[in-house]
Amino acid sequence: MTFFTAHSGNILALRCKDVEPNKFQGNPITKSIPSRCSRLRGKEMHDLSRQRRVLKLARHSFSDGGLILCYNAYSLILKGNKNMFELPKLNYKYDALEPYLDAKTMEIHHTKHHQAYTDKLNTALESQESLLQKSIEDILKDLESIPEGIRTAVRNNGGGYYNHNLFWEIMGKDMASKPEGKLLDAINDAFESFELFKEKFTQLALTQFGSGWAWLVVQDNKLEIISTSNQDCPLSDGAHPILCLDVWEHAYYLKYQNKRPEYIENWFNVINWKKVQEIYEANTK
Ligand SMILES: [Fe+2]
Repeated sequence: MTFFTAHSGNILALRCKDVEPNKFQGNPITKSIPSRCSRLRGKEMHDLSRQRRVLKLARHSFSDGGLILCYNAYSLILKGNKNMFELPKLNYKYDALEPYLDAKTMEIHHTKHHQAYTDKLNTALESQESLLQKSIEDILKDLESIPEGIRTAVRNNGGGYYNHNLFWEIMGKDMASKPEGKLLDAINDAFESFELFKEKFTQLALTQFGSGWAWLVVQDNKLEIISTSNQDCPLSDGAHPILCLDVWEHAYYLKYQNKRPEYIENWFNVINWKKVQEIYEANTK
C-alpha cells in the first residue's frame, strides 16, 4: 500500500495492488504523507474499517478539492476488495444536454447526489456478503429479504443508485422527438397516442408531491405510467421501468427554480427513445 498526493498536494489518493494507478486523474506524485495518515499503512489498509478511518483523517488533512478524490479512491479500493457498486460514467458530457438540462446541474447531480447514494448503498451493504453478490435490480425486487436494520437505507440509497443509473441512460444529445416501431405501437395501444401519453406522463410528474419520480413501466407485459415518492423504485412493486424522470428539486432547481412544468416540457427533448425501446424489448415477451 502506498500513499500518493497529486499535483497540488491537496489531493490524496490511496493505491493498493487492486487499484490501477492510471485510474487516477493525472500522474500521482509521491510526496510526504501527513503524519496523522501515515499511521495507517501496509496490511492494515486492507481492513475496511481502517480504510474508513484513514479517509476520515484525510478529510481533516486536505481541502474540499481533495475530499472528492478521496472518495473516488475509496470506491476503487472497496471495489478492489469486494463487489461494491460504482458510480457509472455518463455516455455524454455534462453540457451535452444544454440548453434543456444545464451542465452545472448535471455535474452536481452526477458527482454529488448520485455519488452519495452509491456511497451510502455500499456502506449499508458493507458486511452483507450474500447481498453483494446480487445485482441492484435483484436487491430492489426483494426488499423484504434485506435485514430490517439496513432495509430503509437499502431502499433509499439502492433506489437512488438504480433510478439515477436509468435516468442517465435514457437521455442523450440530438435525440428523436418521439419513439418508433414496437415501442410506439405499445404506447399507442396503452394511451391512444404519443401526445396523450406525453400529457398523462407530464401530469403525473407535475403532481408528484415533493420529491420523487415519474415512470413509464412494463407491468404484466403492458405499459403503465406511475409515480413514486423519494427514491422508491417500481422494481420493488413488480414493474420494470423503461423511462424515468427525476422530479427532485436537485434535478432542476438551479436552472428552473420552481418552474417544474418548464423542466418537464424541456426534458422531453433529451429522451433517448432508441435506448428506451431497447429496454422495452428486453423486458417484454
Ligand atoms: Fe436526482
